[in-house]
Amino acid sequence: MNILSEQIRQAIVLEGEISFARFMELALYCPHYGYYEQEKDTTGRAGDFYTNLSVGSLFGELLAFQFAQWFSETAHSNWLTAKMSPVRLVEAGAHDGRLATDILSWLQKHRPAFFCDLEYWIIEPSVRRQIWQKKNLCDFGGKVVWFDSLTALAQEGVCGVIFANELLDAMPTHRFGWDAGHRVWFEWGVTVVENAFAWTRMPKKTAEEGNGDVFMRWPSLPTELSAVLPDGFTTEICPLAEIWWRQAASALRYGKLLTIDYGLTAEQLFTPERKDGTLRSYHRQRLKNDSLANVGELDITAHVNFTALQTAGESLRLKTESWCSQEHYLTRIVEQIWKMNDTFGAWTPSHARQFQTLTHPEHLGRPFQVLLQSR
Ligand SMILES: C[S@@+](CC[C@H](N)C(=O)[O-])C[C@H]1O[C@@H](n2cnc3c(N)ncnc32)[C@H](O)[C@@H]1O
Repeated sequence: MNILSEQIRQAIVLEGEISFARFMELALYCPHYGYYEQEKDTTGRAGDFYTNLSVGSLFGELLAFQFAQWFSETAHSNWLTAKMSPVRLVEAGAHDGRLATDILSWLQKHRPAFFCDLEYWIIEPSVRRQIWQKKNLCDFGGKVVWFDSLTALAQEGVCGVIFANELLDAMPTHRFGWDAGHRVWFEWGVTVVENAFAWTRMPKKTAEEGNGDVFMRWPSLPTELSAVLPDGFTTEICPLAEIWWRQAASALRYGKLLTIDYGLTAEQLFTPERKDGTLRSYHRQRLKNDSLANVGELDITAHVNFTALQTAGESLRLKTESWCSQEHYLTRIVEQIWKMNDTFGAWTPSHARQFQTLTHPEHLGRPFQVLLQSR
């Protein structure tokens, strides 16, 4: 067992079996040893998974164009008359700072006035990642400010855009199975069997003791569905993603809240092809069957429940502007660019290739979904 496995094993010894959410939290984010605490480049062809950012700089450039558009559309009305400047672009989970670099570089070159006015904030809980991000973003000096959580922003509030790319689908998620005999859900936990991690059914606990509060969030199934759901049907629930979205919605005084993630609606999560849930683990571009093996070397993700996010935002009086595939979202941005002629910069053959990969339904266009809400 490596050091990280040993730490998880000790947590199991102390706590009894642990929820999968706790396992995932340690496997991905354990200070020093978690998967995201490693500096190696985990994305791109040589990495563990292929992301919007490994395609090239176009993804960030399109977002930058859209952010500047939003600002210019509102600058002469609400934004300035309400004296809401400076505008803030708040990125959560900036990984190696590549998206921030792509966005800031494009704005500096193509929207210098907007670039001068704005502040770029990064929410990054990992001390190590903050250090790497500061190194990679040193060209942008005082333009970028770091915070370790959204709560630090709540008081001052944000006028601008709060956004995240592939953050919520990497948040620690709980995993539930359906017991058709008793028509109840049970939670899948993790234990140790013969020196290896293994799945185990967890007892239902009270909110104070453990998973009771997660059970309480679980929507009761319509009777027709609970009558036909097969035994062992598995699905995930991620209260942390919903909590994060609520915090972001509360911090947003004026502007947009945007996320791009693997995800589905609540209804789509309950279809026969999802009977094993949406949990996925990757190593060197390969999908791995066992999410409990090779701890610290696997990227682990589960689909976001976009219905839950949308409802959470709307309950805090955000307006849903769109929920659609990345294919549609980016195509709409490019349509604006083409209508406005030369304000984006040259559309090179490389841009065309990147755009195809980002939007093709069988590449990144359909698996990634975009939720945009506003206040
Ligand atoms: C899955 S990656 C995000 C991917 C990245 N946005 C990109 O586009 O490549 C995980 C990043 O989110 C950070 N992170 C984890 N939990 C977070 C949270 N609650 N708020 C903000 N960032 C978080 C991690 O430290 C790491 O930098």
